[in-house]
Amino acid sequence: MREPESSQILKDRFADIFDDRSIETFQKFIAPSKDLMSCYRCAIMEIETKFRVLDERFSLAHDRNPIDNIQSRLKSPESIRDKLLRKNLPFTLEAIEKNLFDIAGLRIVCSFVDDIYMLADCLLQQDDITLIKRKDYIQKPKENGYRSLHLIVEVPIFLQDQKKLMKVEVQFRTIAMEFWASLEHQLRYKKSLSSDIVEKTTERLSRCADLSAHLDMQMQEIKDMIERE
Ligand code: GTP
Ligand code: MG
Repeated sequence: MREPESSQILKDRFADIFDDRSIETFQKFIAPSKDLMSCYRCAIMEIETKFRVLDERFSLAHDRNPIDNIQSRLKSPESIRDKLLRKNLPFTLEAIEKNLFDIAGLRIVCSFVDDIYMLADCLLQQDDITLIKRKDYIQKPKENGYRSLHLIVEVPIFLQDQKKLMKVEVQFRTIAMEFWASLEHQLRYKKSLSSDIVEKTTERLSRCADLSAHLDMQMQEIKDMIERE
């Protein structure tokens, strides 16, 4: 039976990780990064509340909910590291804040395509929101068929002693867009697959995206017809 490693042996093995200097460096980075991540969490809360309010008010006026569900996520430290490496940026909080606009992300899954544009307009009309970037993959789907409306917005958060402007990525999708994107993501997104399988599946996935776009169009038309009654 193997002897358990004594703490001295462990210390020797991890000497370069656990020496005083690296602990200090680590703590110097971790405290402000926790603070920044907390600010992004607050920004997510702000935006999520805005959409919950819009959904509530719309359902009062029109007796239906434009939002099916809201998902949110904070980018993981591994993804942040990978994106900084990919963009050739330094591992600093300044680089993160200035260059990565998807640390805080929300996905608003809507019932109908029209609801997406209505909700996006309502958000952008609010006087504390600034639009930084808009990518409309519904008007102009990606080559693989991906559809969604992406907004990068800036929202203020109010802390004990200061106001801070935070960037948030908001993705709007219908249920059909979400169905396609979430399955495509599981199967393919950023995966290294053989060229043979890529060739065999690209066309079929793209046809599925067309079907989902067709479904959205049909449902929108049915809704419009019923509302005109
Ligand atoms: P990222 O480096 O992934 O953030 O992409 P980007 O900075 O070029 O931004 P873009 O607006 O194109 O995409 C941002 C996000 O949209 C991604 O992180 C995914 O969540 C989603 N997305 C974009 N393209 C696709 C796609 O082809 N398939 C799926 N499933 N999701 C996508
Ligand atoms: Mg992203």
